[in-house]
This record gives sequence, structure tokens and C-alpha cells, in this order.
Amino acid sequence: MGKKSSVQYVCQNCGMTYPKWQGKCDSCGEWNTLQEEKIEQSGFSVLNQKKKGGIIDFVPLTGSAQTYERLKTGIKEIDRVSGGGLVPGSAILVGGDPGIGKSTLLLQIAAGLASSKNDDECFYISGEEAIDKVRIRAQRLGVAESPVKLASTTEVKDIIATLEKSNPTVVIIDSIQTMYLEDVESTPGSVSQVRACAYELIKLAKKKGFVLFLVGHVTKQGAIAGPRILEHMVDTVLYFEGERGHHFRILRAVKNRYGATDEIGVFEMQDRGLVEVENPSALFLAERQGNVSGSCVFAGIEGSRPLLVEIQALVSPSGYSAPKRAVVGWDLGRLSMILAVLEARCGFNFSGQDVYLNIAGGLKISEPAADLAVAMAVISSLSNKPLPSDMVIFGEIGLSGEIRAVTQPALRLKEAAKLGFTNAIVPTSFGKEKKITDLSYYEIGNVHRLINWFN
Ligand code: TYD
Ligand code: MG
Repeated sequence: MGKKSSVQYVCQNCGMTYPKWQGKCDSCGEWNTLQEEKIEQSGFSVLNQKKKGGIIDFVPLTGSAQTYERLKTGIKEIDRVSGGGLVPGSAILVGGDPGIGKSTLLLQIAAGLASSKNDDECFYISGEEAIDKVRIRAQRLGVAESPVKLASTTEVKDIIATLEKSNPTVVIIDSIQTMYLEDVESTPGSVSQVRACAYELIKLAKKKGFVLFLVGHVTKQGAIAGPRILEHMVDTVLYFEGERGHHFRILRAVKNRYGATDEIGVFEMQDRGLVEVENPSALFLAERQGNVSGSCVFAGIEGSRPLLVEIQALVSPSGYSAPKRAVVGWDLGRLSMILAVLEARCGFNFSGQDVYLNIAGGLKISEPAADLAVAMAVISSLSNKPLPSDMVIFGEIGLSGEIRAVTQPALRLKEAAKLGFTNAIVPTSFGKEKKITDLSYYEIGNVHRLINWFN
């Protein structure tokens, strides 16, 4: 072999490289993620010293700009998350746990696009499943008649040669971790392979102007497996999330060069595939039972859309010397902080109590605006007094116990009124905002007032 082939050690979590093996990655702090890989030159051009570079033309900021005609998928939730449709020549990474429904979603997108415009070519390339498996899924989804071009291969060279010769509108690669370039000596799924394959495919997408979807699996820690680097290479990163036992699925934009991030699309997994959910609040509240202590409705915002969710808390005497705190769908550190504030500012005592918190429906929320709703759910469970079932709550809690204002209160309350709620607990600073007539307000400026609420 004439090629230089010394090895390096690459963190499979963040892509950092090291000349020597070590137990912990200094860059991302993960343990045991370094793997030996050959140093590869392919995929990234190496400057030829003898050949001089050309001169770049600089232009003013004003001037004509290319406007993109976005491709509508016909699935409203996807068009919303992508910022109004897919942009030709862009690369979209769709990440998610195995089995969450990525292949189902992308087959539905491909079928929708292929049948809406007959002259367009939609390619679905599966590296994970054999042709007949995909066909069975297509039948189940009722899209078998759609003119999607299906192939099962992992050879990126073949894929590129084929795409060069055709005129694709959309190309779906399911998944990038199975793809293989023979010029790269590492195994499929390794950082170098994933990076090199993605690089070549993205380059072609830009050149030919097609929309490229890359499916990526997610590790236990929640990163798209292997390289975070993939997130930097693509234009849009979408995460497909949901709890395995629930049928709701959320498509969330975490990066988008052509639209807003934090926008979500809500789907329900049914026996004939993913169905868009028009009114997510109604869905997330569907199984709520009135008059139960520890339950409260939070008026949240996801992206540009208001979303009501039920927050459930359970406080019970602990059998452990160190009481348990557990959360599903929220941040454990944030729960500890709220418990500490309630102890220090209101005199509640959670020291002998286990505290469990759950966001119903398998949704994950990250807004600090949920603080007050969490606090109310916890206090309601501790004191065993149910909150009024027609009440929504929002507000951020500060360390001194103050309730802070949150973004877009009016939008949250409008959604609540629409769904028949008649009471709201809101931050005091809300007063200046336009009020919604169908709701009665309780404005709270500090958590110590919560105590009165339950006495
Ligand atoms: P899949 O798209 O294969 O997931 P991924 O590509 O993310 O690994 O979806 C797998 C799950 O979805 C599987 O457990 C079965 C379920 N499913 C349905 O409930 N309804 C359907 O119509 C289809 C096609 C799958
Ligand atoms: Mg799959």
C-alpha cells in the first residue's frame, strides 16, 4: 500500500481525534468512546501545492438573491417543521431511536412527493432492509402504487454513479450508518465512514439540486450516533422522538438553515402509518382524569405553536435513606431546583419524600415556563388536593421564589380558552398583556403565595 495509513483514535460520540488512545474524551467528556481508525485522506481534498488557487470575486451584500421554490410534501406537519417546504439542494438529517418510525415517515414522504409530481424522481435507498421488507411496509401504508424508485444497497460509489446519471428531486438514504465507501478503510458506522459518505452525498445534492434525506440512529446519550460532525455538515437536523409505548411521535427541528428551529410536527403512529395530528393539545389531554391530586395542565409553546400538556407529580413517603427523584420528559436538575425553592421559600418539606414527575403522553418539554406548573403539581400531590380541572398554569420560577414572565402568554391562553379552560395561573407581570375574556386569572408574583392556595 502506497497510501499513508497510520492510525488515529476518534471519539465515536463527538468526532474528536487523538494520536494516542485514552479512556476519556477531553472534548465531550464521554468514557470509552475512542476507537482506532485509519487516517483517511479521501472525501476531503488535499491541496496540491504546485497548483495555485484562483482569485475570488467579492460582491456587495445587495443584489439579486436566488429564491428557493420549496417542495411541498403534502404532509403539513413536515412542511411546517422544515420551514414551509423542502429546499432543493439541501441536506436533511433525520435522527431518532431505532424503531421510532423514521423509515415509515420517510417512505410516506417519498410516496407523497412521487405521486404528487409525476415527472419527478424520488429515490428511496435502504441500506438496512431488503427490498421485500420495504415493499411490505409500502403495502401496509397503502402507498405501494406510488412511483418511488426503490433500491437496497450500501455502496455509496454505486449510489453516486447512479444519481449522477438521473434527475432526482428527493433522495432518501436509510440509514447513513449502513453506508460504505470502499476508499475508506474503517467499518460502516464509524466516524470516518459516516463522514466521508455524508460528504460525498451532500456534495452531489448541492451540485444536482436534489433534497437529500439522511437517516441517522441516535445513541443512548441522545446524540446522533457517531459523529456530531454530521450535524454541522447538513442544513437541517430533525429529531423524531416519542416514547416507545406511546403512539405520539414528535418531529422536532433542532437546526434549520432555511427556517425556524424548535418547530415541531406531531404525528400519531397508527396501524397504517403516521397520521398528522391537527390539534395536538386535545390529543395530549385526551386521557386526563379530572379531580386527581398531582395533576396540572401546563400551557406551553413548541416552536410557533401553543401546546397544552398534562404534568403529573407523585410525592410519596420514601423508603430510602436518600429519597428518590425521577422525571420522564423533563429535566431532573430543574425539578431539584424547584423542590429546593419550595423548601426554602415556602417551608415545604420533601426530605423524607420520593418525588416522581411525568409529562403525560411521552412528550419532552424543556421550557422553563413549565416551572410553576411543575411546582403546583408537586404541591397538589404532597397536600393531596386536586387542582381545578379547568385550570392552566405557566410561569418561570427564580431562585428567590419570584415568578417570572414567559414568552407569548396571550397565545398560550388563547389555546387554553379554545379547549374550554376557564381559569389560569399566570405571572403577575402578565397584567399589561391583553386579557382573554373567557378566562379568569390568578396572578402570582412569588411562590410563597402557593401555600395560601392550598390552605
Ligand atoms: P420504522 O419506521 O421501521 O422505525 P425506524 O426506521 O425508526 O427504526 O418503524 C417501526 C415501528 O413502527 C414498528 O415497531 C412498527 C411500527 N409501525 C406501525 O405501528 N404502523 C405502521 O404502519 C408501520 C409501517 C410501522
Ligand atoms: Mg428504519
